[in-house]
Amino acid sequence: MNSWSVVALALLLTLGTGCDRDPGTAKSITTLSGPDIIRTQDPAQLVRGEQLFHQHCLRCHGERAQGAANWRQVDAEGKYPPPPLDGSGHAWHHTRQTLRDMIRSGSPLDAAGRPQGNMPAWQGTLSAAEIDDVIAWFQSLWPDEIYAAWYERVEGGGLN
Ligand code: HEC
Repeated sequence: MNSWSVVALALLLTLGTGCDRDPGTAKSITTLSGPDIIRTQDPAQLVRGEQLFHQHCLRCHGERAQGAANWRQVDAEGKYPPPPLDGSGHAWHHTRQTLRDMIRSGSPLDAAGRPQGNMPAWQGTLSAAEIDDVIAWFQSLWPDEIYAAWYERVEGGGLN
């Protein structure tokens, strides 16, 4: 084998293995006080998450998860409209586990066992993996500063 064949073979092998795994995307982002963090995204998971969001969540939270315009004000029944999940609301004040719990269980119940708000419970409809896919999708809409603040102060900072 001459040296060009060796190079061509090496190239083929590299390309071949590259196709077998999902490369995902990763980039370094700056936090306020700590070291930079690596923000990773799995494109296949985002596709699944967006589809699920469109199917189940869009009708209340909006096409780009922007929420209702008046989401800070309670309605005539004393219930809050659907908040944004795109990083402009306060969803980023919750750990991933709290977000999972909120999606699984929906609005908390009052003393009489009635939901206090209009967020449906998704357990039974969505699997744990599907809930994680949806969270990954709406988190992908968060600007880097919001993601970094969430990662640093909430997810890693012991808040919920
Ligand atoms: C019928 C309308 C409706 C649908 C459909 C709906 N939501 Fe909600 N969601 C709400 C409302 C209203 C709230 C505010 C809850 C409250 O005040 O108790 C909320 C709250 C939330 C929160 C908490 C946000 C925060 O800032 O604390 C998350 C997370 C959430 N929804 C995710 C989802 C996801 C994911 C789906 C789809 C699987 C979904 N929602 C479908 C109405 C809806």
